[in-house]
Amino acid sequence: MTQPDVPVPGLNGVVVADTSIGDVRGVEGFFHYRGHSATELAERYAFEDVWRLVIDGALPTDDNDRRGFQHEVRGLRELPPGVAAALGEVVGQAPRFTDAVRSSFSIVAGALDLAPLADRGFTGRRADALRLGALVPVVVAAAWRARSGALALSARPGLGHAADFLWLLGGTEPDPVAVQALERYLILTIDHGLNASTFTARVVASTGCDLGGCLVAAFAALTGPSHGGALGQVLDLLDEIGDDDDLETSIRAKLDRGERLPGFGHAVYRTADPRTAVLADVASRLGGARLELAREIRVVADRLLAERKPERPLQSNVDYFAAVTLEAIGIPRPMLTAVFAIGRCIGWLAHSLEQADDTKLIRRSSRYVGRDPVMASYAVG
Ligand code: ACO
Repeated sequence: MTQPDVPVPGLNGVVVADTSIGDVRGVEGFFHYRGHSATELAERYAFEDVWRLVIDGALPTDDNDRRGFQHEVRGLRELPPGVAAALGEVVGQAPRFTDAVRSSFSIVAGALDLAPLADRGFTGRRADALRLGALVPVVVAAAWRARSGALALSARPGLGHAADFLWLLGGTEPDPVAVQALERYLILTIDHGLNASTFTARVVASTGCDLGGCLVAAFAALTGPSHGGALGQVLDLLDEIGDDDDLETSIRAKLDRGERLPGFGHAVYRTADPRTAVLADVASRLGGARLELAREIRVVADRLLAERKPERPLQSNVDYFAAVTLEAIGIPRPMLTAVFAIGRCIGWLAHSLEQADDTKLIRRSSRYVGRDPVMASYAVG
């Protein structure tokens, strides 16, 4: 086996898998799912159609086909018996909502008694993937309601994925404008190359572990502030500097202190993140007091970051207007990263299935830089 001479920071540019699920073209500012522009899918299709595309490889061919998939996944939205009560206990003990959700995913996966990928054929693996994908929003909503002692609600088969989540959360008829905004966001975030959480899912899948393990590990990776954890921090930033008289001075001061602006920069895009334009448009349809402020801060931050790093584009990324959008439709701040997982889990699960077809364990190398081993000093006997 060849040993790397030096580590590649962040594994940037290291190809670790072949995939036919999707691709991100960072220089062009374009990404797609199985050959279909993801931004066009978000504008023209329902979440379940794109779910079908990502998991099965094709969009529904006609209304019958569409209804068939809808029927299949909407029938999977019921928590296993006894789980709702267990979620209540977990939520009561977890310091942060993301901790509660991570543990809740683990409880649900355990209750489903999923088989290791290594012991499952294609049909069984796909069934597990659909079950988990269908349950993620149910778990997030149930965990949120459990925080205030409210009972989990039952899913409504007549509602699409985004609408049903809003129903499960609030127990009121979902507003169609909010449903459309959420649906677009969820479609846009289903997949995005081998980002940290998707790579994590593939590593876990390569061990032959069950899909529940892939989901829990990927969610843990998503919650970090460099990844999906930036969502809440975007709103914290708006709160922090929103009332300042001079936004430019406030942002400059942050950059002078070496702080990173949440919602700006991307590991792959060297031009505008294509999700920003769609979500800026979605956010403007929702309106709200935050929108004007978010636009102002974005213009100033984009300019200051370009001044500081002319060689390295650091424009607003998906999380920036996503945070504003999700807040405008009433998603509580501690829940933002968990809502991100409702879309992204479909990508994690598709990648896990793809990885499971390859029996090779993903096993990277490290370069040892510690002190020399002192074998002679081992005591024997
Ligand atoms: N604000 C200020 N400076 C930044 C930012 C930022 N948001 N992002 C990168 N930089 C600077 C770095 O400090 C670094 O400067 P240096 O060369 O002087 O040390 C330079 O740009 C390059 O930074 P890297 O760490 O090499 O960039 P990388 O591509 O690895 O990081 C990341 C990408 C993690 C997204 C980064 O831009 C960041 O931390 N952004 C803020 C957090 C965020 O928005 N995360 C969500 C990303 S989208 C998603 O995961 C769904």
